[in-house]
Amino acid sequence: MIIAIDGPAASGKGTLAKRVAEHFGYACLDTGLLYRAVARDVARQGFRLEDIWAAIAAARGLDPASFDDPALRGTAAGDAASIVARIPVVRAALLTYQRDFARRPPGAVLDGRDIGTIVCPDADVKIFVTATPEIRAKRRFTEFEARGDTVAYETVLADILVRDARDSGRPNAPMAQAADAMLLDTSNLSIEAAFDAVVGLIKRKIGP
Ligand code: CDP
Repeated sequence: MIIAIDGPAASGKGTLAKRVAEHFGYACLDTGLLYRAVARDVARQGFRLEDIWAAIAAARGLDPASFDDPALRGTAAGDAASIVARIPVVRAALLTYQRDFARRPPGAVLDGRDIGTIVCPDADVKIFVTATPEIRAKRRFTEFEARGDTVAYETVLADILVRDARDSGRPNAPMAQAADAMLLDTSNLSIEAAFDAVVGLIKRKIGP
């Protein structure tokens, strides 16, 4: 069973993916971490994020054991990830790891931008989670506030809009809803209601 959950930043896809995986006893992969780790490694080696060859080398040498690095969290790391994520060879280098992960029995949930379209076009269940940019910015802003980070709401919203444009505007594997994906707009949905909708969809796929 492969469950693909795609969507923009702060749409709720990560939380949903983790909860769904826990509920069904499946493995869960936040594929954004791969791109965040590539950007981290490029910067640590002293290269610019736009350096294609450094990014390709980092993607080819990526160590999954380093995915729980706290340095990968946060807006700056997500923004840096979206720069290296535009490079086609970087994306290609990360495909095998993601596809092998997806085949883990009894099932796997992968969340990202291109899971339903490119990484796992044959996924059993595909969901595209979205919400208005303003609501997504509000969620991120509240998370930052709770952590004691002082950042203006307008800055968070501007960052979300830049990242959305970069992710959906790139020619290679842009963020997109697969033709056979269910659209889940969480703008006015609690995480509980979104979770129930996704679980219902999966149960209908699995059967009684
Ligand atoms: O958590 P958030 O949605 O803010 O970001 P993320 O899922 O960790 O993704 C960070 C960046 O990695 C995105 O803005 C994309 O540019 C890139 N990414 C991608 O291109 N393809 C994926 N499957 C996952 C992430």
